[in-house]
Amino acid sequence: MEPRPGRAAWPLTCLLLLALRGGPGAGAPRPGQDFELRQPQDKVSVMAGETLTLNCTTSQGGPVGAVKWLKGWGSGNETVYGQTGSFTRVMRAVEGSDTDFTIRIRDVHPEDAGTYYCVKFRKSLLGYEVFLRGNGTEVSVRAKPTTPVVSGPGRRVGPGQSVPFTCTAGGFFPKDISVKWLKNSAPVSAQQPQITPEWMKSSYNMSSTVTMMLQEDDVHSQLICEVQHPTLTAPLRGMYQLSSVLRVPPRVRVVPDPPSPVEVNKTVNFTCHVEGFYPGEVAVTWLENGTEMKAENISGPVKMQQGLFALRSLVEVQATEEKNRSVFTCRVVHDAQDPVDRSTTLWITTPAEKKMTDRLQTDNSLLIYSVVGVVCTVLALLVAAILYLIRAKQSKGKSSPSARLHEPEKSSEATTQESDPNNLTYADLNFDRERKAVRRMVEMSQQSEYACIQTSQAPASDDNLTYADLDMVHLSKAPRRPAPCPEEAGSEYASVQIPRK
Ligand SMILES: *[C@@H]1O[C@H](CO)[C@@H](O)[C@H](O)[C@H]1NC(C)=O
Ligand SMILES: *[C@@H]1O[C@H](CO)[C@@H](O)[C@H](O)[C@H]1NC(C)=O
Ligand SMILES: *[C@@H]1O[C@H](CO)[C@@H](O)[C@H](O)[C@H]1NC(C)=O
Ligand SMILES: *[C@@H]1O[C@H](CO)[C@@H](O)[C@H](O)[C@H]1NC(C)=O
Ligand SMILES: *[C@@H]1O[C@H](CO)[C@@H](O)[C@H](O)[C@H]1NC(C)=O
Ligand SMILES: *[C@@H]1O[C@H](CO)[C@@H](O)[C@H](O)[C@H]1NC(C)=O
Ligand SMILES: *[C@@H]1O[C@H](CO)[C@@H](O)[C@H](O)[C@H]1NC(C)=O
Repeated sequence: MEPRPGRAAWPLTCLLLLALRGGPGAGAPRPGQDFELRQPQDKVSVMAGETLTLNCTTSQGGPVGAVKWLKGWGSGNETVYGQTGSFTRVMRAVEGSDTDFTIRIRDVHPEDAGTYYCVKFRKSLLGYEVFLRGNGTEVSVRAKPTTPVVSGPGRRVGPGQSVPFTCTAGGFFPKDISVKWLKNSAPVSAQQPQITPEWMKSSYNMSSTVTMMLQEDDVHSQLICEVQHPTLTAPLRGMYQLSSVLRVPPRVRVVPDPPSPVEVNKTVNFTCHVEGFYPGEVAVTWLENGTEMKAENISGPVKMQQGLFALRSLVEVQATEEKNRSVFTCRVVHDAQDPVDRSTTLWITTPAEKKMTDRLQTDNSLLIYSVVGVVCTVLALLVAAILYLIRAKQSKGKSSPSARLHEPEKSSEATTQESDPNNLTYADLNFDRERKAVRRMVEMSQQSEYACIQTSQAPASDDNLTYADLDMVHLSKAPRRPAPCPEEAGSEYASVQIPRK
């Protein structure tokens, strides 16, 4: 019905006056009088995505004017539903009713939170004005947080470095939320999450940060951000594979086979062992004296048990003479990092040189042993020769054992005779070994003095006693004097000192 303000104004005023006076016809229902509007819901909470029902009923009749739903009051109000116009998400619960103005809002968004008013308008002189309004229904939209997302540093980092990880989840209502961090199911302590309001506080965003030191064995580790919220029956989890941010640099070593020095024209295999790296991207190049060469055989990379990678690269080199002192370098570029170089020098020997260097290279102690061995042999030969000479001498005078008297040289000893122990006349007694029937023999007679001399050898071999028969030698007791020539153990010499007269 098209409103006509000019005509409607007078009858309306009269009616109002009548009503106030309580004049005739007060019992009969008149428009505007006893008009009731009930908005029974004080507060309503609805899950995001679900349908919100806002109840409003009025009594029959009432003034000319529509019943509308407004969201908010005062400036910034918003007509959610009017009897004319299109409201895509809103529909009447009872279509066409003039008493039940309940509406349904489907697929509620967090932004739909607010206070809704059911309002009866009436035609006035100035157009339409609010005639009656309900007490308002406060609508809150409970919203589940989005699945948490864990983000790490923007670049890879090595073991031992501490890096922050952030977990974010948004769009939840109410504000209360709890965040737990886990690394491979072990709790990790973190700061309190930061909660920031979104869209007129209809929902909140959360951000939680944890700082962690990475380790070499974190290739298989998982970081979990667990969010619990009243709207959730089970916590939501955000996962993060630490391998996506970990970089473990390789250990590099070059092993020549056979090791230097190498005989000329032999084949040498240089193997570059690149081990324990992550991620698996690695480039291995070989340089010979700084010039790139071609690798013969590259294996892998293969995964080791800790999730780290290993690789071997091999070059085969013919040890020609001109390659002597060539430097072979294995250059490893891992994950676009600075190259890692490991070098080895090739030493080439001729076969003769090789033997010598081998001998030199073998332990110094071996050298000493061989020297000692040679010296011993020489000594043994010398001893044998001496023994032989002695034997020869002995066999020559076999029948006549000799005794020789040594006289001190007269020239020098005239004055120092007595003090010099060498200044003695002594006798060398050279005799044969002979088997004697008698074990020990001490013969005594008036004319001769006999002394029985026994070698220092053990008397066990008593058959081999050596005897010297001293005849015509005057033996007298005198204080012991050092022998001019000390006897060797087992020698068959005996010296007899004879004091000079
Ligand atoms: C609206 O509020 C008034 C006063 O606050 C109260 O008396 C009345 O019962 C309320 N109406 C409804 C429908 O809740
Ligand atoms: C709201 O209105 C609907 C539809 O008329 C009705 O089924 C429901 O019982 C009402 N709820 C309340 C709380 O008045
Ligand atoms: C709704 O807002 C408009 C301006 O945006 C204002 O003129 C009107 O009075 C408001 N209505 C109510 C019921 O607050
Ligand atoms: C809040 O969280 C939502 C969903 O996760 C996101 O789209 C939005 O950008 C966040 N807002 C802020 C200010 O972080
Ligand atoms: C090594 O090989 C080269 C060429 O094949 C040859 O001329 C040279 O005599 C060889 N040297 C030895 C020590 O065998
Ligand atoms: C590379 O090495 C593997 C194993 O050591 C061997 O089986 C293969 O034949 C080699 N390939 C070449 C081209 O040398
Ligand atoms: C290689 O160089 C070393 C050191 O300069 C030298 O002693 C050796 O004789 C060289 N070998 C050959 C095969 O020339």
